[in-house]
Amino acid sequence: MGLLRLDKFLADSGIGTRSQVKVLIKKGKVRVDDNVIMSTDYKIDTESQKVYVENIPVNYNEFVYFMLNKPAGCVTATTDKIDKTVLDYLNDVKIKGLFPVGRLDKDTEGLLLITNDGELSHNLLSPKKHVEKTYFVRTDIPITSEIIDGLETGVDIGDDKPTLPAKVTYANDNKFETYISITEGRFHQVKRMYKAFGAEVIYLKRISMGSLKLDDDLALGEFRALSDDEINRLKS
Ligand code: URA
Repeated sequence: MGLLRLDKFLADSGIGTRSQVKVLIKKGKVRVDDNVIMSTDYKIDTESQKVYVENIPVNYNEFVYFMLNKPAGCVTATTDKIDKTVLDYLNDVKIKGLFPVGRLDKDTEGLLLITNDGELSHNLLSPKKHVEKTYFVRTDIPITSEIIDGLETGVDIGDDKPTLPAKVTYANDNKFETYISITEGRFHQVKRMYKAFGAEVIYLKRISMGSLKLDDDLALGEFRALSDDEINRLKS
């Protein structure tokens, strides 16, 4: 890899945004070999030097992974002429080639993985892999146990085939709120599944995708880098 600016090295490695890692460097939290380095444009030789943040070694990552708590009102796209996109929330991350993994509707909130790792994205979205996505759903009518049975069995939503069996539980005693886990990713799938039983989805939030859970500490519009543990579990 050769010589690289220290702030770029740290940002590329998913330690934080370019401005966040600059703060870390200026606070003296970053060491290269045995020396604390406080200048952000310091060049490191990635082959021969070792970088530590608060004494934890950093491995240079070609790929980066972020979770965004997507707010309603933005589109899951990399660019858009009219609407704000999910990538606009990661403006400080100066890494090329980032894209969202899968789609959430404009009015859907919650967990969105953003990365530059095409292979992981492909694996998570492949229909063959059946990666489970869980959503919190609020509807305009109570969801009866008969509706739950129907959702869990598979629903004709007007496509070639009915949906694969889902798992549905009540989120609380009020039957307007449920959790649904599905393993496909059809267009407007959750809304269309509930609609097939006469229920309008009035609020939808994704809370997990495979092993990855939305971090409760992230406010709407906030994002953070995934931990090594989260990345490894997603890949396995
Ligand atoms: N299903 C939907 O209907 N909308 C989403 O955004 C995600 C799943």
